[in-house]
Amino acid sequence: MEGPDGSGKTTQIELLETYLENKGYDIVIAREPGGTVIGEAVREIILNPEYQEMSHMTELLLYAAARAQLVNQVIRPALAEGKAVICDRFVESSAVYQGIGRGLGVDTVYEVNNYALGDVKPQLTIFMDLDAEDGIRRKKDQAELDRMELEDMSFHKRVVEGYRHLAQLYPERIVPIDATLPIDTIHSMLVKEVERRFFS
Ligand code: TYD
Repeated sequence: MEGPDGSGKTTQIELLETYLENKGYDIVIAREPGGTVIGEAVREIILNPEYQEMSHMTELLLYAAARAQLVNQVIRPALAEGKAVICDRFVESSAVYQGIGRGLGVDTVYEVNNYALGDVKPQLTIFMDLDAEDGIRRKKDQAELDRMELEDMSFHKRVVEGYRHLAQLYPERIVPIDATLPIDTIHSMLVKEVERRFFS
C-alpha cells in the first residue's frame, strides 16, 4: 500500500486485513520503515528531525537496510508459511521519495533495493492518490511532523507526481485509487481489485 503522507493507507490496510481474514487468510501486516526491532531502530534514525545533515544516499541505504531486515525476518518466512502479506509502504516509497523526491534516480533505487528484496516482489501495489497539500494538511492535524514530513512542499509535490508517473508507467503492477473518496468507497474499489487479481 503506497501513497503520500496522510493519504489513508493505514485505515485501508486495516479494512483489507479484516476482509481477507474473513475469507480465511492468515494475514501479516508489515510497516515501513520498521516492522522489526532493528527496522524500528533504523526508523528512529531516519525520521529524527535532528539529523538534518543526513545525505540522500545515506537515507536511501537506511531505508533499504530496514527493508532487508523486514524481508528476511518477516515477509519471506510468512510467505513460506502460506500467509498473505500487506505492506504499509515498500520499495515504491523509496523509488518516489529517494529516487524522484531526492533526485537519486529510480534506477539507482531499484538497483540498491534488489539486494534487500532478493526474490520477494509485491504482486499488487495500491497507490492512494492524494495531492501533496491535502496529505500534509491531514498530517499536521495529527501529530508532530517527522524529518520527511518537514520537507518543503515542492518535495512532497515531486513525490506525488512520482507516484503518478510510476502508476502510468506500470499500470499492471501499480493501481491508483482516488484517496479523496469516502473510506467505504475506497475499500470497495480495493476489494474489487483484489478479487479480480487473486480470486477470479
Ligand atoms: P510512514 O511511517 O509510512 O509515514 P506516514 O504514516 O506519514 O505515511 O513513513 C515515514 C516516512 O518515510 C514517510 O514520509 C515516507 C518516508 N519513506 C521514504 O522516504 N522512503 C521509503 O522507502 C519509505 C518506506 C518511507
